[in-house]
Amino acid sequence: MKVLVIGSGGREHAMAWKLSQSNKVNSVFVAPGNGGTHLNPKFKNIDLIDINLLADFAIEEKIDLTVIGPELPLSRGIVDLFRSKHLNIFGPTQKAAQLESSKDFAKDFMYRHKIPTAKYKAFKMPDEAHSYVDKEGAPIVIKADGLASGKGVIVAMTLKEAHDAIDFMLVDNRFGDAGAKVVIEEFLEGEEASFMVICDGKTILPLATSQDHKRLLDQDMGPNTGGMGAYSPAPIVTDEIYSKVMKEIIYPTIHGMANDGIPFTGFLYAGLMITKKGEVKTLEYNCRMGDPETQPILMRLKSDFFETLYKSSTGHLDSTEIEWDKRTALAVVLASAGYPETPKLNDEIHIEDRVISDTYIFHAGTMFKDNKLLTSGGRVLAVTALGYSVKEAQSKAYEAINTVRFNGAQYRKDIGFRALDNN
Ligand code: AMP
Ligand code: GLY
Repeated sequence: MKVLVIGSGGREHAMAWKLSQSNKVNSVFVAPGNGGTHLNPKFKNIDLIDINLLADFAIEEKIDLTVIGPELPLSRGIVDLFRSKHLNIFGPTQKAAQLESSKDFAKDFMYRHKIPTAKYKAFKMPDEAHSYVDKEGAPIVIKADGLASGKGVIVAMTLKEAHDAIDFMLVDNRFGDAGAKVVIEEFLEGEEASFMVICDGKTILPLATSQDHKRLLDQDMGPNTGGMGAYSPAPIVTDEIYSKVMKEIIYPTIHGMANDGIPFTGFLYAGLMITKKGEVKTLEYNCRMGDPETQPILMRLKSDFFETLYKSSTGHLDSTEIEWDKRTALAVVLASAGYPETPKLNDEIHIEDRVISDTYIFHAGTMFKDNKLLTSGGRVLAVTALGYSVKEAQSKAYEAINTVRFNGAQYRKDIGFRALDNN
């Protein structure tokens, strides 16, 4: 079988790596891919981004399954396009992907289906947004309605920050159309976790739990990023919390979408806030796997990823089972200097040949040019390791980091600290 993975990050490298382990798969194309997928002889990078050209490629190459990493092609309707051409693709339709591409759509959906989430209101007019914030007080959270590459959420600890965020989005139009409407919501306190499932429209298959580290610096300080590290499983998701999430969030979401006439297919990611009292609230939906959560999750997957996604894309998820390595997997992201504001690019990356068992280096912002591996993005690599405890996975990942070098590399030294506290 031939598989096409769309995207260029660490998540897509991990997907291609896992898909290629299936004995049913004989070719894996990655569009556009990165330096890591280029260097691996099992994959072939395809320099295409436009969804129409990707569909033409899938027809020409007779691709059996297309899997999408990032949200942008989903919000542009890649699934609808491929299906209209009778191409097999795993992911949500453009309408279903609104759970991620419009915060207002997602919040309205959660309210209507009584799915626990922060109280909110949506605004287009700056004056109304400012008075709402004055009435509610700080801390408060201001979110751009549309996709803003993970930068559209401001957790305002003071009223001034909240008012500035409103002006940034509604007056100065700094996110363009994506910020022409804002969602203002109640500030929630607790611990976050990532909860992902696969769905074929009817059957739901939960993936292993995980936790991301969104802040740049140790102890969750510094600016928000796309994610500086992750591990799986997340001990905060106890059996009790797991059942609550399924009952209060996942089932009502999948059933609610079906009842609204928008059956959900693909990966559904619920970003959770778990309060001290053990309540769970939905912070956001993503219609894709998380990055970097995918890297540790797929390190732990023992079953055939291709078979699961293929069966799901053809509506037969009910005949699939999924098996996980009991060990913990932990990924540490190495970012370039200046990330997240102004990542420095084109630095040469040196990776020693020395292989440390049960570790894997997934590439993200890397490219191969003039016979050199260079940095080409903010998040450069995700060094991922398996261990019998969080501590062991952590020390192996940090040991493997010593095999990598590039100018200005920055990474957190405490990935997994919450799980160590919880263990
Ligand atoms: P989102 O893209 O909606 O997940 O938001 C990005 C990050 O902002 C989340 O991972 C949280 O850390 C934070 N955040 C979002 N919504 C809230 C909220 N209502 N209360 C507190 N923090 C939030
Ligand atoms: N790591 C969070 C995300 O992928 O949205």
